[in-house]
Amino acid sequence: MLLEQLMVIVTGGAQGMGRHFSKRLVQAGARVVAADVNEEGLASLHRECEAEAGKLWVRKLDVSDEQQCIDSVGWAYNQMGGLNALVNNAGILRDGLLVKLDRKTGQIVKLSRAQWDAVIAVNLTGATLMVREVVAKMLEKQQRPGVIVNISSIARHGNRGQSNYVSAKAAIAQNTKTWSQEFAPFGIRVGAVAPGMVETPMTQGMNAKAREALVNMIPVGRIGEPEDIWQAVRFVIECDYFNGRCIDVDGGLSM
Ligand SMILES: NC(=O)c1ccc[n+]([C@@H]2O[C@H](COP(=O)([O-])OP(=O)(O)OC[C@H]3O[C@@H](n4cnc5c(N)ncnc54)[C@H](O)[C@@H]3O)[C@@H](O)[C@H]2O)c1
Repeated sequence: MLLEQLMVIVTGGAQGMGRHFSKRLVQAGARVVAADVNEEGLASLHRECEAEAGKLWVRKLDVSDEQQCIDSVGWAYNQMGGLNALVNNAGILRDGLLVKLDRKTGQIVKLSRAQWDAVIAVNLTGATLMVREVVAKMLEKQQRPGVIVNISSIARHGNRGQSNYVSAKAAIAQNTKTWSQEFAPFGIRVGAVAPGMVETPMTQGMNAKAREALVNMIPVGRIGEPEDIWQAVRFVIECDYFNGRCIDVDGGLSM
């Protein structure tokens, strides 16, 4: 599909990679709805994109809320005058070992149910609801061709301290295949991109030591930039023969 013909929702569009993808899309002439819980970030993105080739709208959305997903997809369709793509990017971290022994006290510490639920609600349930609603709208309005780009993570292969995140990102990568099979008859492709470690507020919030140790493990010798991941997202959108697969873009990092 051509970027300038896209009518696309980008979730988590207010900051980090989602913000970068939204900008690149609108610069290429696409119609874009950036949706996020962060209204301040959305407002500044809107200001920055006013002079671009395409058009950008912003929408407050918590993807873990089913009704908000339904309403936002309908709203986006009406604003853009169509809907043929989703960049399913919103995500959060609530890291922790499933069970550990506290170094100082020797006490057993468990991953909290709240940490588990929060990540599953946004990264798995929310991402799945967005696919469901966007595809339902595409069918209702006979929009085709269509494309969905799910943002997974190389944590999908398993990573210490991230049981919740791994579960969600692995499921999204695997269901990329499931959904590609389910939606192919409707002319809708589904692909996924699994970033390695990328410079965004998410990784800037990491413990400095852990961050440095991880960066030192990246074979290409640097942390990824949102632009590195955009190149893969763009490929998934543009290559009409790409379907049902997840591409790791990680500088060769093995977790
Ligand atoms: N940064 C990395 O190294 C990295 C690596 C692999 C995968 N990822 C994934 O890439 C995606 C983008 O990550 P990022 O690094 O740009 O993160 P980020 O924290 O910088 O941005 C995430 C955005 O998602 C929004 N968001 C959070 N919860 C939301 C919700 N319930 N509804 C709607 N929006 C919500 C946030 O407000 C924020 O604007 C995420 O899915 C993340 O898991 C990131």
